[in-house]
Amino acid sequence: MTKGWRFEGNELKYIREVLDNGFRAGVDGAMTERVEALFAEKFNLPFAVAFNSGTSTLHAALAAFRIGPGDEVIIPNLSPIMCGIAPVFCGATPVYADVGWDDFLMDPNDVRSKITKNTKAIMPVHLYGQVCDMEAIMALAKEFDLMVLEDCAQCYLGLDAKGRVGGTIGDVGSWSYEASKHLVAGEGGMIACQNETLAEDIRKFGGIGFANLTARSGKVRIDRDKFQNPDWQRHDRVGFNYRMSELTGAVALAQTERIHELVELRIEAGIGYRDLLANSELLKSQHLPVGAVNSCFTFAARFDGVDLGISWNEFRLAFISNGGDGIYAAWQLIGDEPALADDGIGWGETPIAKKLQRRIMQFTSNQCDVVEREVQYDALSKTLRQFGDKI
Ligand SMILES: Cc1ncc(COP(=O)(O)O)c(C=O)c1O
Repeated sequence: MTKGWRFEGNELKYIREVLDNGFRAGVDGAMTERVEALFAEKFNLPFAVAFNSGTSTLHAALAAFRIGPGDEVIIPNLSPIMCGIAPVFCGATPVYADVGWDDFLMDPNDVRSKITKNTKAIMPVHLYGQVCDMEAIMALAKEFDLMVLEDCAQCYLGLDAKGRVGGTIGDVGSWSYEASKHLVAGEGGMIACQNETLAEDIRKFGGIGFANLTARSGKVRIDRDKFQNPDWQRHDRVGFNYRMSELTGAVALAQTERIHELVELRIEAGIGYRDLLANSELLKSQHLPVGAVNSCFTFAARFDGVDLGISWNEFRLAFISNGGDGIYAAWQLIGDEPALADDGIGWGETPIAKKLQRRIMQFTSNQCDVVEREVQYDALSKTLRQFGDKI
């Protein structure tokens, strides 16, 4: 692999600018301001707020929804634990919804069955790069007057069946710049939304509650005469320091400039795997509705080989020995992780997610070009044939 290809844009130039400016805003503004403005433009949303992770974004969004003790937030059980931690940070209860056997995503029918008088919000997670059934989820939100937080940590520019971009449909969208994501800044997060009050609340929550933060501006030192006055009261809220650093902002800005190119590479990788598995008996691709686009954070498939007595790990080891990168398993269901399960935090049976979790296989989609991708496809087709699949 060409070393460093992922960071061959303006990353170093912008890092240099941050250092040369001594971490003060340059003539084009602070890096975090610049990445926010660019992100808002790319997603066609008026407000974007840069954070230090795609977990703190979830916390801030739920806090801005005024979620607190006694409230319930419905999340898919098949998802990373960060989605469960965010409601817990707010003192609320995560309620686990089941997922679809074919699309692996939050099942709106099961969400409906989990709504109680305490439900305040739904958190669809666009897992593996694919947008959930937002039409059904938004209809539920309307019917029961619930807020919707779209977790797009794994989904950049994925489209639902109606061609809408994931993260722009609910009340708030949340993204991550963690090291494995479509856009990488080491760590980092972004929140974007339509609503100015929500955006200001979110920024203040993640910006230590400085009084002069607004939906659009992260500047805290605006008026020198006020700021240097001993009588100046700086904070009108209680908030965390969840801000994105300028160095992270430099890398995030350069990556966001290349969003279409970087996402397209993963989409293409996914199309290749999907074509390969079109007639497979052993591996079923994540079902994609007509008209939708899966942005393919990883390529996810259900391993039905277990029904034929082939073990998950046996298949994985064969894939690796055939030259494949490796196969990632699904995380434990959120409600089964000891961090929550040991204290009995959360509720909601999810039989499909439980069965599916043992079968999910995630293949890498972060290759730099078609040559790299072919190595994975060859290894996979060889492995499938080895186990008798007539692909
Ligand atoms: C679906 C999902 N939500 C939230 C997160 C949290 O993002 P971060 O690692 O930036 O905190 C991740 C990533 O790790 C994720 O995959």
